[in-house]
Amino acid sequence: MGSLPHFNPDDDREGARVHPAVAELRAAVAAADALLLCTPEYAGALPGAFKNLLEWTVGDGSTYRKPIAWINAAGPAAPTGAADAHESLRKILAYVHADVIDAACVRIEVTRDMVGVDGTLTDPAAREAIADALDTLARAAAERA
Ligand SMILES: Cc1cc2nc3c(=O)[nH]c(=O)nc-3n(C[C@H](O)[C@H](O)[C@H](O)COP(=O)(O)O)c2cc1C
Repeated sequence: MGSLPHFNPDDDREGARVHPAVAELRAAVAAADALLLCTPEYAGALPGAFKNLLEWTVGDGSTYRKPIAWINAAGPAAPTGAADAHESLRKILAYVHADVIDAACVRIEVTRDMVGVDGTLTDPAAREAIADALDTLARAAAERA
């Protein structure tokens, strides 16, 4: 995400004629059977850098009918529980005709004390909830395949 140029329709070309970071992103999305997303909310919206990533996936249709879900990890202190970011995400995914798997879209509150020094989530219940969401998403992708 950090290497992507800002989206510009003039730079949105086919195949290898795009920026290498865009080509890499598109290849990874195209190769995936499903996507599980997780994003914070900043200032009442999706982070600009993540929205930029999504904009690069519109033109090549790589998310068209792709099974996609998201985990909302907003902690109890988040004022709106990141509701606006996830509403915006749903709107964008509808626009590209992604196949949103609602049963795998879950809110799992993650607080700082649930994350170890190496960045790994240590809380067993949260880990299990994420595994359940992944399982649900994988099953949905397998059914569609
Ligand atoms: C600049 C900034 C703006 C944020 N804006 C929102 C917001 O509008 N709504 C929200 O629910 N959370 C907001 N948050 C909280 C983040 O989405 C996220 O939950 C939090 O930064 C991660 O948890 P931590 O601060 O405990 O590490 C914001 C955080 C930052 C750093």
